[in-house]
Amino acid sequence: MRTVVFGAAGSTGRVLVEQALAAGHQVVAAVRHPEKVEPRAGLTVVRADVADAAAVRTAVAGSDAVFSVVGGKPTRQPVELHSTAARTVIDAMHEHGVKRLFVVSSVVLEPGWRPSNAFFFNNVLDPVVNRVMVRTTHDDLRRMEQLVRASGLDWTIVRPSGLFSNHAPTAYELPEDQADGLFTAREDLAASMLDQLSGDAFVRRVMAVITTAVRPRIARVIWREAIMSR
Ligand SMILES: NC(=O)c1ccc[n+]([C@@H]2O[C@H](COP(=O)([O-])OP(=O)(O)OC[C@H]3O[C@@H](n4cnc5c(N)ncnc54)[C@H](OP(=O)(O)O)[C@@H]3O)[C@@H](O)[C@H]2O)c1
Repeated sequence: MRTVVFGAAGSTGRVLVEQALAAGHQVVAAVRHPEKVEPRAGLTVVRADVADAAAVRTAVAGSDAVFSVVGGKPTRQPVELHSTAARTVIDAMHEHGVKRLFVVSSVVLEPGWRPSNAFFFNNVLDPVVNRVMVRTTHDDLRRMEQLVRASGLDWTIVRPSGLFSNHAPTAYELPEDQADGLFTAREDLAASMLDQLSGDAFVRRVMAVITTAVRPRIARVIWREAIMSR
C-alpha cells in the first residue's frame, strides 16, 4: 500500500514510518523540513506544511491511506494545527478519491475518562495539565474529531493515553472510545494503526490504544515529554 504520514519527522511519525516500511508499504513522509528525514528504500519525502493546501494535495495524490500524527509544543495559546490539518487533508483526500484516514487524537477528549488506580493523575495532573495547561490543544483536537466524523471518509480516530517511547511494540489493548490505562507506547500506537489497514473493525469508529505490558515511571514521562521537549 502507498501510505502518507503527516508529522513523519515527529516522535510517533518516525516510528510509524519505520514500521510501515518494515511491513512492505510504500511511504510518503510529509514534513515541514525534509532534511530531518533520512532517505531510505520505499520512502518518498515531500515538503508539506499541513496549512498549505496545495502541498497537502500533492502529498496525498496516488495514496491508499493517510495518517495524521502532527502535534505541537505544549501551549496555553489558541491551537489550530489539528483542525487545520483535518481540513486540508480531508479536502485533498476527496479530491484524489482516497478513502482511508487515521488521525491521532487523545483519550483526554472522552469526558468520563478517569483511569483506575491513578489517584495522583486523576486529582492533580489531569485537572492541572490536561484541563488547564494544554486545554487549547484538546479544544482543537475536539474540532478535528468533529471534522473527521463529518468527512464521509473511512476514518479511524485513534486515542492514545500519555505517550512514551518504548524499544518495540507490545501486546497493546484496543477498546472502543476510551481505555482504562495511563500510558501508550508510540510503538504500539503506530502498530495499532498499521494493523487496522487490513481490516475494517474500527472504520468510522474511535479506537483507544493503551500499553499495559510495560509501565513507565510517571515522573520520567513528565520529564521527557513535558520538560525536555519544550
Ligand atoms: N504527548 C502525549 O502524551 C500525547 C497524548 C495523547 C495524544 N497525543 C497526540 O499525539 C500526537 C503525536 O505526538 P508526538 O509526541 O509524536 O508529536 P511530536 O513528536 O511533537 O511530532 C509532531 C510532528 O508534527 C509536525 N508538525 C507540527 N506542525 C506542523 C505543520 N504545521 N505541518 C506539518 N507538520 C507539522 C512536527 O513537525 P516538525 O518536525 O517540523 O516540528 C512534528 O514532526 C499529537 O497530535 C499529540 O497531540 C500526545
